[in-house]
Amino acid sequence: MASNPYTSTLLPPSKPQLITTMKTTKPSTKPTLNYASLPLTPTIKTKQHPPHQPFKWNILQRAAAATFDMLEAALVSRETRIPLPKTSDPRVQISGNFAPVPEQSPNHNLTVSGTIPNCITGVYVRNGANPLYEPISGHHLFDGDGMVHAVSFHEDSVSYSCKLTETHRLVQERETGHPVFPKAIGELHGHFGVVRLVLLYVRTLFGLVDPSKGMGVANAGLIYFNNRLLAMSEDDLPYHIRVTSSSDIETVGRYDFFGTLGCAMIAHPKIDPVTGEMFALSYDVVRKPYLKYFKFTKDGKKSPAVDIQLDEPTMMHDFAITENYVVLPDQQVVFKLEEMAKGGSPVVYDKNKMSRLLDFHLFLFLNG
Ligand SMILES: [Fe+2]
Repeated sequence: MASNPYTSTLLPPSKPQLITTMKTTKPSTKPTLNYASLPLTPTIKTKQHPPHQPFKWNILQRAAAATFDMLEAALVSRETRIPLPKTSDPRVQISGNFAPVPEQSPNHNLTVSGTIPNCITGVYVRNGANPLYEPISGHHLFDGDGMVHAVSFHEDSVSYSCKLTETHRLVQERETGHPVFPKAIGELHGHFGVVRLVLLYVRTLFGLVDPSKGMGVANAGLIYFNNRLLAMSEDDLPYHIRVTSSSDIETVGRYDFFGTLGCAMIAHPKIDPVTGEMFALSYDVVRKPYLKYFKFTKDGKKSPAVDIQLDEPTMMHDFAITENYVVLPDQQVVFKLEEMAKGGSPVVYDKNKMSRLLDFHLFLFLNG
């Protein structure tokens, strides 16, 4: 199970020519003990635009937006009076080598040290969290907007580009000029987290945001399946990404497998190297069934989902397949949303729960 959100995949050489790599920077040598006295800004500044109101809003919506923005500013002011825990302090989470980087259009003919073997051709792509806006309050490394990096190896040259994935969340926040969706890990804990959910609800009521098309950041995984490069986070549908012939990166759109995927999908689906089928999970933190399992044929047709019985919603995140079995980790990190009302985090380590591995035959249910 990979704990780092930065994941990468190698596209087949016959596919669009591109590869990505992170712009390498030396690990930070700054002292970390005095971070609490620093302003809430990452080492490298991300975009920060003054809030503005889209022209499409009517007078009522503009008044409501201004009111909610003021309420949120008051909330942040109150929240930051006490030191943030390291797990949600952006000065810790996205400092040094983890600082956000700006988007880059394709840089061609990069300098190459040494010799690239002839067998290296195609595109190397990598996904990671890279917030568009500077955090003004809690922020966890995993909360950043998805950014895909691509390094393209051509016959005699190498190109690099990186672009934010145009999720519905990102597009709306860019239009509004500031973040309006709560950050799943850095902000949704305790009473402040509850208030942020209420703010999201009322902003939705007034038509200021639209969470109906997903709030995911598509920052946790990449997979190349059925001639599509998909960027994923486990709280939303995948996003179809395309590497162009000029080595640029484009977001095609949110991808629902021809209308058959109506629920979020984890960021680490598995492809059977023999059959080309893709296996995946979806979990729900509110309602039973808390976990569902399904597959796609190699041409993208989804099977009916199989409900996996869990007593409580569990942070599954990843799983494994063998030639004949699927193996699921039912472990001790669980979701307890009620903990927010008590001032805690909704993601809890339950030391009283017994971890177990569930395994069952790969096709027992799906083909039955
Ligand atoms: Fe992961």
